[in-house]
Amino acid sequence: MEVIICDTQEAVADRVANYIKYLINKKENATLGLATGSTPIKLYKKLIELYNNNEVTFKKTTTFNLDEYYNIDGDNIQSYRYFMNKYLFNKIDIDKSKAHFPICLEGENPNLIGDLYEKKIINAGGIDLQILGLGSNGHIGFNEPSSSFMSKTRIKTLTQKTIDDNSRLFNKNEYQPNMAMTMGISTILNAKYIILIATGENKSDAVNRLISGAISSKNPASILQNHKNVIVILDEDASSKVNNIDYYLNAAKENKKLQEQFGYFHELK
Ligand code: GLP
Repeated sequence: MEVIICDTQEAVADRVANYIKYLINKKENATLGLATGSTPIKLYKKLIELYNNNEVTFKKTTTFNLDEYYNIDGDNIQSYRYFMNKYLFNKIDIDKSKAHFPICLEGENPNLIGDLYEKKIINAGGIDLQILGLGSNGHIGFNEPSSSFMSKTRIKTLTQKTIDDNSRLFNKNEYQPNMAMTMGISTILNAKYIILIATGENKSDAVNRLISGAISSKNPASILQNHKNVIVILDEDASSKVNNIDYYLNAAKENKKLQEQFGYFHELK
């Protein structure tokens, strides 16, 4: 696990956007796994800037979003498809027929929709780079504590903690779903590269547990310790409780030199 600490949230967004640009310029038909939430909004803004400067094109990119609320269709302003359109897809040249979400409406069988999503990911050649945020309870996607490390895309009931954390995004009388479809932990671990972003002091405990806590389904993000190509990119506030911070700062400097010399994403052809 590589840990990179940036001075500000803007610097985090800049760093991650440049990784994505590098990847797409290396492999134009790359498959990205994308996340929603407040954390990646600055990243998406930066990608739009890179696109407007003709530094990257998304024409041949396929995307799979991590999750989607249950029984909310793509036109609902609370849907993650709406979010992605608003913050990224409407402002770049992506072919939206290649942008996928695990949408499951009432009456549809979530098991079949989960299986289909897995098949679509496999047919696209697997995910080259998965972007992740981090829940304050350690969830990734909507894989709440106790999620199996072997899980695939499926429906999950949200914890009260997650419902409370996300309630800020809903108006008072607006319906807030308590279930969601989410890629499983095993789906996420199958990505060739993973970048997890966390910013803000409220993520500092979860970040510390992700990096140096025990690997346990009680803390889903901890399993990322076992993935061979994970980069955790933090701002200073989110890194404030990381043990051994000097080591990570030094390692990041050394890695940067090597990556500038030999490039990134060496497993991608
Ligand atoms: C949400 C999403 C996650 C996201 C996390 C953090 O519930 N399902 O994919 O990473 O919670 O969200 P935020 O970035 O708003 O803190």
